[in-house]
Amino acid sequence: MIPEARAAEFDAADPLAAYRERFTIPAGVIYLDGNSLGALPKATPAALARVVESEWGEGLIRSWNSARWFDMASRIGAKIAPLIGARPNEVIACDSTSVNLFKLIAAALHMRPGRKVVLSEPGNFPTDLYMIAGLEAQGLATRRLAERERLAEALGGDVALLMLTHAHYKTGALHDIAALTRAAHEAGALVLWDLSHSTGALPVDLDAAGADFAVGCGYKYLCGGPGAPAFAFVAERHQAALQQPLTGWFGHAAPFAFSDDYAGAPGIERLQCGTPPVLGLAALEVGVDLIAAIGIARLYAKSQALSEFFLESLMAHDVPLELVSPPRAAERGSQLSFRHAHAYAICQALIARGVIGDFRAPDVLRLGFAPAYLSFTDMAAAARHLAEVLASGEWQREAFNQRAAVT
Ligand SMILES: Cc1ncc(COP(=O)(O)O)c(C=O)c1O
Repeated sequence: MIPEARAAEFDAADPLAAYRERFTIPAGVIYLDGNSLGALPKATPAALARVVESEWGEGLIRSWNSARWFDMASRIGAKIAPLIGARPNEVIACDSTSVNLFKLIAAALHMRPGRKVVLSEPGNFPTDLYMIAGLEAQGLATRRLAERERLAEALGGDVALLMLTHAHYKTGALHDIAALTRAAHEAGALVLWDLSHSTGALPVDLDAAGADFAVGCGYKYLCGGPGAPAFAFVAERHQAALQQPLTGWFGHAAPFAFSDDYAGAPGIERLQCGTPPVLGLAALEVGVDLIAAIGIARLYAKSQALSEFFLESLMAHDVPLELVSPPRAAERGSQLSFRHAHAYAICQALIARGVIGDFRAPDVLRLGFAPAYLSFTDMAAAARHLAEVLASGEWQREAFNQRAAVT
């Protein structure tokens, strides 16, 4: 059976098919970049209009209380918590992923006096590695990178923190959160997981794994919009003593006491720094509510089915591409990445056909499968487009255009 016919059968049996209608997907677009910027939930514009026109416009400053702006960050954090296997009081939506990394790396170093090493892997997402550099420049940290097969042996007695991204941004390869958390703890280190490419697409169980800290993006699978606030997780057992370095007034136990002296809030609110971005949080809440309503188990099942079917469709077209993601669905996130010397030009040729994926330097074509709004028909069509682009040499024209633009 041709992929399109199988796709129609899968779509008819897909329990999540109706959720596509809850998102804005432009006509003629197959959106395979929801792992970078999630699609717009249709409910978001009205929710934002209400916050702007009614809560801000009419309520003015009163809305901090009457519209509960005050506890939005912890309220949304509590809604993210079940998606990552955390308790409601262990997660807060605040700042960017980068800033949350900084706060939690510094907090971990403080909890392990005498140890300075932050262990990660080469090729981790750049901001994760750069956030160590800032602390290194201040003499507070030493960066150590070890290939993923070598991480366990690199966990020496000098390691304060093991910091990794669960689903690798470029390849989608997964780390075993439970096993690595255990290994780090046995070596006396703490663990910080970046869940940016997991949350909203894959099940994660931080509490069951005994994880210490985690962060993640709000604008990818959570569909919070460009630059949406991120989230941070701190295991309950660490919260009371946590020393995070950005001791702003919103993390204070009593911000409106206007005291000269800092006293951190007793719980997860301590992770906050300045005034929360209410408009960004309002958009994030819509996305989180929608993803939580669909449920992570169903999202994960569909994510795996989509990527498997995409691979099957590519095979039906005999497409000669090198897969750099793990071939087994259980070992990867909700994406497939392919290596090709002209990956950039191929990506551009696909975009010209309305198939929006992305390119990651130097040679990776990355296709993300956001399970909340993609169909199996999208998979069959995208695979056909990719096959046609490669067979027709369209990408060579794109490569020529690039050279022409540069010279
Ligand atoms: C693994 C990972 N961490 C962090 C980020 C981004 O962090 P920020 O929201 O601070 O830009 C990304 C962005 O793609 C990412 O893939």
